[in-house]
Amino acid sequence: MSIQLTGKTAIVTGATKGVGLACARAIAAGGANVFICARNGSEVDAVVEALNKEFNGRASGRVCDVRDPEEVHATVLEAQGAFGGVDILINNAGIGSRNRVEDMPVEEWRATLETNLSGVFYFCHEAIPPMKERGGGYIINIGSLAGKNAFAGGSAYNASKFGLIGFSEALMQEVRYDHIRVSCVMPGSVNTTFASRGEMDPATTWKLLPEDVAEVVVNLLIMDPRALPSRVEIRPSEPAK
Ligand SMILES: NC(=O)c1ccc[n+]([C@@H]2O[C@H](COP(=O)([O-])OP(=O)(O)OC[C@H]3O[C@@H](n4cnc5c(N)ncnc54)[C@H](OP(=O)(O)O)[C@@H]3O)[C@@H](O)[C@H]2O)c1
Repeated sequence: MSIQLTGKTAIVTGATKGVGLACARAIAAGGANVFICARNGSEVDAVVEALNKEFNGRASGRVCDVRDPEEVHATVLEAQGAFGGVDILINNAGIGSRNRVEDMPVEEWRATLETNLSGVFYFCHEAIPPMKERGGGYIINIGSLAGKNAFAGGSAYNASKFGLIGFSEALMQEVRYDHIRVSCVMPGSVNTTFASRGEMDPATTWKLLPEDVAEVVVNLLIMDPRALPSRVEIRPSEPAK
């Protein structure tokens, strides 16, 4: 695997924990340089330090709230400055929301849509030109099975993840002849602190582990460029009844 990703540079958003951290680690293990971001600066610093120890100085990062287009612009520039370009973008940063429409503060609606959907647009908007300069690239958006299965209380989260599928597939058609592939990975329950029931013991949980999702991401990245799995659903094989 390291042969395929060596010399590539990946940006992973929301990479201080959960799925994003597992993706950053798996991509670095594959030989790529990794540039991470999240809002909490001390967590960004700690993850960059740990990745650099593990992977010989091939990680960097900065604070970035994906809802802020100026911070996103600065993040993509800094990644290019650190590693000379951008080849891979993993749009992973996301937040949950579970609330009835009539009870939901406007701020919750806005934060969910801005983080899970607009943040992906801001990053793609900034990262596509440098990818074109490198002759191509790969954008992987972390969606959710909630992007096709609606649930009561899920209006904001469902809207953001249904929207992300539409965004990803339109973008896929837009940039395919620029040699940029776009995929949407749609996990079911993953064992992170994200879910309302919290994180379970990784040794006994029925949920997917973040590493399972990261494995799918790396498998997409190393696939022959001829092929493009544009949507990948992954779910726990034996969910709690
Ligand atoms: N866990 C699940 O069951 C599940 C299922 C399907 C899909 N997903 C999707 O998988 C992705 C990752 O989820 P996860 O479970 O790994 O979540 P998590 O453990 O809560 O991690 C979320 C990461 O995103 C960052 N983040 C949140 N808001 C951000 C913002 N505005 N700007 C920048 N970074 C931000 C967080 O750091 P800061 O808070 O410091 O910013 C953290 O690093 C999300 O898109 C989620 O929708 C999760």
